[in-house]
Amino acid sequence: MKKQMPEKYMALYEAAKAARANAYSPYSGHKVGAAIKTADGEIYGGCNIENSSYGATNCAERVAIQSAVAAIGGIRISEVMVVTDATPPWPPCGICRQVIAEFGGEATVIAANLSGECRVMKLAEILPDAFTPEHLTK
Ligand code: THU
Repeated sequence: MKKQMPEKYMALYEAAKAARANAYSPYSGHKVGAAIKTADGEIYGGCNIENSSYGATNCAERVAIQSAVAAIGGIRISEVMVVTDATPPWPPCGICRQVIAEFGGEATVIAANLSGECRVMKLAEILPDAFTPEHLTK
């Protein structure tokens, strides 16, 4: 039995789906939406934004995080949702895991698809032994 979206993540899921509608992905054809929830309960969305110079592509998760930082400054992330139409749902890529770690080492990460199928993980499970700002101070 596939896990369906728990009610407590519904607002984040809806925000990620709404952001996904703006995905700019003419090269891969994959539309990705993300949304983060801050420790203060604020929600910010993002979508993937591709580029003809492929390496300049931004993932949806990082766009959501960057939008939040640009809007309100130093955030702490409590939850990250990523939504695609894929089965099984896509988890965040390695670079996005590292960027999530910068702002939310304790974050819950939810990978979901449009059917509401989801996988709920802790960032530490999918990015063990993360490099963090503390390493720079020791
Ligand atoms: N993508 C994301 O937006 N998030 C991820 O975590 C994985 C990949 C995007 C980047 C690119 O636009 C497309 O999905 C295919 O890699």
